Amino acid sequence: MKKILVTGGAGYIGSHTVVELAQAGYEPVIVDNFSNSRKSVLDGLRAILGHDVTCYPIDCGDADALRQVFKTEGNVQGVIHFAAFKAVGESVAKPLMYFQNNVGSLLTLLKVMPEFGVESLVFSSSCTVYGIPDALPVTEATPTKPASSPYGRTKQMCEDIVHDVSAAPDNKLHTILLRYFNPIGAHESAQIGELPLGVPNNLVPFITQTAAGIREKLTINGSDYDTPDGTNVRDYIHVVDLAKAHITAVQRLLDRKASDVVETFNVGTGHGNSVLEVVKTFEQASGQKLNYVMGPRRPGDVPAIYADATKAADVLGFTTTTSLLDSLASAWKWQQALKNVGN
Ligand code: UFG
Repeated sequence: MKKILVTGGAGYIGSHTVVELAQAGYEPVIVDNFSNSRKSVLDGLRAILGHDVTCYPIDCGDADALRQVFKTEGNVQGVIHFAAFKAVGESVAKPLMYFQNNVGSLLTLLKVMPEFGVESLVFSSSCTVYGIPDALPVTEATPTKPASSPYGRTKQMCEDIVHDVSAAPDNKLHTILLRYFNPIGAHESAQIGELPLGVPNNLVPFITQTAAGIREKLTINGSDYDTPDGTNVRDYIHVVDLAKAHITAVQRLLDRKASDVVETFNVGTGHGNSVLEVVKTFEQASGQKLNYVMGPRRPGDVPAIYADATKAADVLGFTTTTSLLDSLASAWKWQQALKNVGN
């Protein structure tokens, strides 16, 4: 079985990827410092897979601890690097923490991987690297723009670091950069899903918590954008679809099929939906009305962005299969199951 190290493997996208890896015949090994995830995720993984997943509760920025993991595990074939902070607003308040953690953990990984002959990396990037794009949908060739937050800048910097490291004459690293659009929903088993700590920043957990009575109402951040209904447009991708893109990417790297030492792919559905459409679709999926109001714009929000998903389809053979309705139904099912996992 091919062993894949998954940093941030107890996180939202990481945990769903661990499931898909295991079900595709890989042996995932988790590294996670649990700074933004919970140990109960491991119970959820066990419930889905029927066995434990090896997990090292260490910080990916700790080089010696990471070396120990590679040494103990022996034959790690590749790494999927999720471990990072991801809250846009928090990154404005605590920029150094974001640079230290997000850039620092990648640097540590890039230093340690070659010591153990590990040459394949899938990196979690984000559509945030496009900033406010001039044209839609965005392709991988769309020029990146200044990021609107330190968080976004860490993703741009990490992409640049990977490119520079890969251009060195003695480089052996092969990387696939996956630029995620907006992941939503949860595993169909409702054993794992998003576990936001405190008040959610993201739309779908806020919606499900409002429907569950935890929040009084959803405030829609702006209704005067130059979009069809005035609210922001995003590309919402089901987290299991997104997880599957990682399996395809890892396989491509291990098979040495990549056409370049660094390849970049958008991972989205290729469709844009407005915030209002998401709300209406959620009402349909859950069978209940949502209490919401129109509010002011949120600073830093891009008016509209969605993926051109052609390259991932043509090169990786990756397409999404889950509709917005089904994605939101899974988010609602997860919200209802949450009381069982100690949230
Ligand atoms: N929104 C609301 N009300 C809320 C929360 C969100 O109206 O209470 C709106 C936002 O303004 C936005 C849309 O819902 O228009 C989606 O917002 P999210 O916060 O869920 O997602 P973002 O598109 O802002 O951010 C996501 C990721 C970031 C990433 C960014 C760009 O969460 O990590 O995409 O790539 F940086």
